[in-house]
Amino acid sequence: MFEFTIRKVTFTFCFLSLLLCNVRSWKTCNDTFCGTLRKSPEGYPRYTLNISTVQIVKDSLTGKLTNHDGSHTLQLSYSYIGLPNITRLEISDESKKPQGVSFLPGTTGKNQLRFLRQTASSVTIENGNARSIIYSDPFKIENYFNNKLVSVINKNDRMVVQVNSSGDVVALDVSFPGAVQVYGLPLRADNLPLRTTSNSDPYRLFNVNRGQYKVKSIDSLHSSVASLFAHSQNQTSGLFWNSPAQIWVDIAHGTNGIDTFFMAETYSLQVTFFHGPTMEEAVKQNSFIKGNFNGPPVYFSLGYHQSRNSYASENEVLDVVNQFDANNLPLESVWLDTNYMDQGKCFTWNSINFPNPTALQDQLAKKNRTLIITIGPDIKTENGYFVHDQASAKRFYVQNPNGSDYVGGCSAGNCSYLNHFDYNTSEYYVSLFSLATFKAKNLHVLLESTEPTVLGNEQQENTFPPELIHNIEGLPHAHRELHNVYSDYDVLVTHNGLFARNLNGIPPSEVFKAERPFVTTRSHSAYAMNYASTFTGNNNASWDHLQISFPMCLSESLVGIRSCGANVGGFSGIPSDELYQRWYQAGAWLPFYRAHFAADVPRREPYMYVESIKTRVRKALQQRYAHLPVWYTLYWESVYTFSAIIRPLFYNYPNDAATFTIDQQILVGANILVAPVMKPGVIMTSVYLPGGESEIWYNINDNYKAFRGTGLKVLNINMDSVPVFYRGGSIIARKDTPRLTTQAAVNDPYTLYICLDINNKAEGTLYVDDYKTHSYLNLEYLYIGFVFEDNSLTSFKLIESADYDGAAPITDIVVVNPPANILKVYLNEERLDSQSGISVSYSENGNFMKVRNLSLNLRESFKLTLL
Ligand SMILES: *[C@@H]1O[C@H](CO)[C@@H](O)[C@H](O)[C@H]1NC(C)=O
Ligand SMILES: *[C@@H]1O[C@H](CO)[C@@H](O)[C@H](O)[C@H]1NC(C)=O
Ligand SMILES: *[C@@H]1O[C@H](CO)[C@@H](O)[C@H](O)[C@H]1NC(C)=O
Ligand SMILES: *[C@@H]1O[C@H](CO)[C@@H](O)[C@H](O)[C@H]1NC(C)=O
Ligand SMILES: *[C@@H]1O[C@H](CO)[C@@H](O)[C@H](O)[C@H]1NC(C)=O
Ligand SMILES: *[C@@H]1O[C@H](CO)[C@@H](O)[C@H](O)[C@H]1NC(C)=O
Ligand SMILES: *[C@@H]1O[C@H](CO)[C@@H](O)[C@H](O)[C@H]1NC(C)=O
Ligand SMILES: *[C@@H]1O[C@H](CO)[C@@H](O)[C@H](O)[C@H]1NC(C)=O
Ligand SMILES: *[C@@H]1O[C@H](CO)[C@@H](O)[C@H](O)[C@H]1NC(C)=O
Ligand SMILES: *[C@@H]1O[C@H](CO)[C@@H](O)[C@H](O)[C@H]1NC(C)=O
Ligand SMILES: *[C@@H]1O[C@H](CO)[C@@H](O)[C@H](O)[C@H]1NC(C)=O
Repeated sequence: MFEFTIRKVTFTFCFLSLLLCNVRSWKTCNDTFCGTLRKSPEGYPRYTLNISTVQIVKDSLTGKLTNHDGSHTLQLSYSYIGLPNITRLEISDESKKPQGVSFLPGTTGKNQLRFLRQTASSVTIENGNARSIIYSDPFKIENYFNNKLVSVINKNDRMVVQVNSSGDVVALDVSFPGAVQVYGLPLRADNLPLRTTSNSDPYRLFNVNRGQYKVKSIDSLHSSVASLFAHSQNQTSGLFWNSPAQIWVDIAHGTNGIDTFFMAETYSLQVTFFHGPTMEEAVKQNSFIKGNFNGPPVYFSLGYHQSRNSYASENEVLDVVNQFDANNLPLESVWLDTNYMDQGKCFTWNSINFPNPTALQDQLAKKNRTLIITIGPDIKTENGYFVHDQASAKRFYVQNPNGSDYVGGCSAGNCSYLNHFDYNTSEYYVSLFSLATFKAKNLHVLLESTEPTVLGNEQQENTFPPELIHNIEGLPHAHRELHNVYSDYDVLVTHNGLFARNLNGIPPSEVFKAERPFVTTRSHSAYAMNYASTFTGNNNASWDHLQISFPMCLSESLVGIRSCGANVGGFSGIPSDELYQRWYQAGAWLPFYRAHFAADVPRREPYMYVESIKTRVRKALQQRYAHLPVWYTLYWESVYTFSAIIRPLFYNYPNDAATFTIDQQILVGANILVAPVMKPGVIMTSVYLPGGESEIWYNINDNYKAFRGTGLKVLNINMDSVPVFYRGGSIIARKDTPRLTTQAAVNDPYTLYICLDINNKAEGTLYVDDYKTHSYLNLEYLYIGFVFEDNSLTSFKLIESADYDGAAPITDIVVVNPPANILKVYLNEERLDSQSGISVSYSENGNFMKVRNLSLNLRESFKLTLL
């Protein structure tokens, strides 16, 4: 009884402050399969490729690998995927048939390869600029691109494929000759370059809810993506290790490159290699193989979001919104933790604090706001609760090995967990979002606990025991094999649930009109990128947590996870006023912008602060909103070209070795460099501006003062300083009218910022659609290119067949570093005189000029000339 009470109190405490009870038994390499594999690969059989079995089958090279006494045979396949720059290695044990779930939904077709030559000890294949030599004994593959050796598979002959009842494990070493840094393998609270692991545990990819976490640690957190990029001035290559199971990775920086050693708890090996040759190309190749299934996110998701753990009632939610309005602070949504539910039961409402959820959502809709609620896969095991009754009757839960439903600790007490891998289960889950079941017409979802989190299960790191069973279309799969993708499946089915709800009342012929769902997830793996935003978890109100948010989100961005942010202000702890303001200034430049704080700290919405602080926060928010057309365009380009949205400097300046370790500055697209102040008491700061003598950077928060891209610049700093630079040569479209919501700004005109380069030229793009439905699939959008040269701005459609009639006009242009003495403006060769109402003016210091009161229609190509 006493013990039970203690445990219950502990659970409640953990839930309330979302600090997981300190798990003392986070597993080390030695506690898992990793220990044996890492220290004694000699204990495992070596394999050689039997050259006489090599053949080309359906565009893949195939062959048999055998161990020394010939008692064990593995099937090898090596192929080019989609592009010559990408190759894929697959090795499987013939005795174990791969079954069930496919984890690479975006897999594209294989390319024709050319069989170049075969000797007694090797085979050479080729495709375009790529060539691979596959050696027999020891088995090894050298990848060449543009005649340069870019990666060597199994160079140190440490490959292991062990498939038997004592547990399946595979391991492989991959070397990157010439590489000086490696990046990727998120998520962890550390700097962007990965470290050598010879004096520590390897990097671990295993989703766990660590609760509060420390910075500068390589510990695994709630999300995992096994993509890695090896970089040098002359070459970027990389790989994606496609396994949903636990993975450990050793890294060793050497004088001639970087060696990696991957170990995974799974029965087949599928690794895709990117040959770049640049960082940008390698990043795109990694996203390309996972495919795209969705367009840009719903526009409001790019605005500012307010959360706390938790707003307690309908009145509190409305009060938050009213206070934002009264203080002229933009806001899109209010977020609720699980206490909106009836006693922790998903798909219910607490009848005392949320007696009329429909009316609440209607009121929010009238103010162009939405509600975001937390949902998890954990279903309270209470008889009479409809979800539990149905899920247990239909066997929709994850099971114990003996077939009974697994029960674990959750914030509601005891829970069973939906088995989202199974089709029938996911179909059921989707149906729970129907308006008939759940009063949820103007709300979107935050997924938590999908690591999965099991409270009080310290021995298993507060997650599922590995031996639990997922029945997928009738076939049992051990949780061990699927752990890291449980959260991605939850994201997918939740997206589908919201989409099905949004289809409500829309005739089948007009499905494009359904609104896009907005899902945010704490936990994810490699596949959530097309469906959800994510954040860096339960951070802390401290400077080091603000600082680490940039490398964390940069690492996510490189591996294809577009929408990342950190809880602005920190989740636990109390931020100083200075930290609070700096966090709003910095957070405005990460893709996902949400403030969130714990239950046990004082309220800290921006309107709670004194006027001077409120003013700075408002300025940060307004600068975010002004740039939403830029963010939206970058998302669209990312979806269709696989480019990263936020980037480390070396993404665009790969030859500049000084950029390789910079992770406190980011590029937003190629054109905006952001170097926010993330330290206390700063009166001067150094910013690294790349690109050399021919690159110009304009400080937008300091009168467009121009700097050359020649490295470190020292800037004077006060509390209003946010170093943000536009790149000379870019054209940036903004909406500068301050508004309280994205919706209220829909019809506001655009201002084009034309930032001239050393040749007085600039170019840019703008993507516009209706911001919320799927009609872009119906080619209802505009993707516009702008070019400025010889004092003329021209516009043209980049995709001719697309058209959209709802776009706002461009009324203003700002030319940064302008030509002198411009007096006349011509539109399509016709003089716009003073009667047409336009005005031309220069800033006092001459750094920029404005032409105002234009009316340029984005649908029609135009030429605007300044003379
Ligand atoms: C793991 O095991 C190896 C070999 O048994 C040992 O050398 C190493 O110190 C252990 N590591 C830790 C962190 O305990
Ligand atoms: C290699 O494969 C050929 C063809 O299947 C087979 O006859 C031969 O015995 C194999 N060699 C070894 C060493 O396994
Ligand atoms: C599993 O395979 C490894 C290596 O092939 C072997 O050493 C081990 O004894 C096997 N275990 C079982 C239970 O068969
Ligand atoms: C990069 O390539 C250039 C020219 O090919 C060469 O001079 C330089 O040494 C290379 N740098 C590195 C780090 O490999
Ligand atoms: C593949 O590499 C070539 C250089 O050999 C490059 O021109 C091309 O853009 C790359 N393609 C992709 C999609 O990465
Ligand atoms: C099945 O296994 C679970 C978890 O180990 C255990 O609690 C339960 O009692 C078992 N049920 C049966 C019928 O053996
Ligand atoms: C959880 O389940 C266990 C085992 O059935 C039971 O002893 C305990 O009372 C339950 N706890 C709660 C909070 O319902
Ligand atoms: C899924 O549901 C259908 C229809 O109820 C049923 O026929 C089928 O057996 C179910 N599949 C599994 C694997 O339970
Ligand atoms: C959180 O920040 C506070 C200071 O604000 C510090 O005392 C505490 O140690 C930090 N906790 C962690 C886990 O970083
Ligand atoms: C909501 O958006 C509409 C435009 O769709 C705008 O007219 C209205 O003023 C906005 N209302 C609020 C409260 O922002
Ligand atoms: C814009 O032009 C209209 C006439 O076309 C004029 O009435 C208005 O005053 C002008 N506005 C500005 C800011 O110049």
